[in-house]
Amino acid sequence: MAVVLLTDMDEAREARWRDVLARALPEETIVAGAGVDTAGLEPAAFDVAIAANPPAAALARFPALGFVQSLWAGVEQLVHNPALPPDAPLARLVDPNMARFMAEAVTAHVTSLHRDHPHYARAQAEERWAPAPAVYARDRTVGFLGTGELARACLRQLAGLDFPLLGWSRSRRDLDGVETFAGDEGLTAMLARTDILVNLMPLTAETRGMIDARLLGRLKPGAALVNVARGGHVVDADLLAALDEGQLGEAVLDVFDEEPLPAGHPFWRHPRVHVFPHVAAPTEPESAARIAAANIRAFRTGGAIAGLVDRARGY
Ligand code: NAP
Ligand code: GLV
Repeated sequence: MAVVLLTDMDEAREARWRDVLARALPEETIVAGAGVDTAGLEPAAFDVAIAANPPAAALARFPALGFVQSLWAGVEQLVHNPALPPDAPLARLVDPNMARFMAEAVTAHVTSLHRDHPHYARAQAEERWAPAPAVYARDRTVGFLGTGELARACLRQLAGLDFPLLGWSRSRRDLDGVETFAGDEGLTAMLARTDILVNLMPLTAETRGMIDARLLGRLKPGAALVNVARGGHVVDADLLAALDEGQLGEAVLDVFDEEPLPAGHPFWRHPRVHVFPHVAAPTEPESAARIAAANIRAFRTGGAIAGLVDRARGY
């Protein structure tokens, strides 16, 4: 049996990924999706797919898939792909290197908001000398939506910087040095104390549109949002209204409902929106290939697959 690599990349980039995967899995035949027709193998010869947001129809070509490994941490597109075989395990990418990268990005955004960098950038643009009142980290509370793999890496990093840390998730989790919450009451309690809110939830039917006027209205007035999860969590019009009313002070956005962010979108020019082009924690090929290889070997030998997705839950 063989492994097919299905992506939304151009042919050259997909071929480079195939080579990295082939080095990590020398015992397997790995064919890039773009090359399947010339590989001399029937689609039924492929029992594993390594997937990076492939177009909906790509999976449908392979009738014998027994395991699908995502190269992305977020699997909201794959999990709803109607061609995903109903009984095949689906694993998302759980990669300590990605977590370190995310922790670095979130720490940069949180410390930059904490030290008023957006305020000083605006002041400089107007040639204004405008010192803001000093606030110590111990007086700036950071709240996380989600306490999963990536959020926990961020929380560990921020723990050394003296910020009071809060975390909310579906099921409350005990975390050293973090006050944790669950449920709608827990969310209200956390938001009421949050100065900087970081979103690291998966995009699911439950979480889509969750960052709306109601949620933003429960934050401390003037709080900031850092969204590094998915754009679909945010109701854009509500975010803009909260900024314009002063309920939200700043929004650092790494992800958008439509990517690339379309020309003319109000986020591009809003003085309190800071746009990053989905760069918080890109997948690192060598590291992701090692993880995919371990999971494919586990699939072949009946071992434990890491990062299994609960398809009913959506993450
Ligand atoms: P994860 O380990 O699955 O953690 C998800 C967290 O969200 C868990 O704590 C989970 O609660 C919580 N959650 C899920 N549904 C919820 C709900 N309805 N209400 C409250 N909490 C809920 O995921 P991860 O690996 O940390 O990744 C998080 C997301 O980051 C990914 O899905 C992806 O969208 C995004 N991401 C972005 C980038 C980027 O470059 N911007 C890179 C990688 C990933 P439980 O603990 O109770 O299950
Ligand atoms: C990136 O956004 C990922 O989900 O891996």
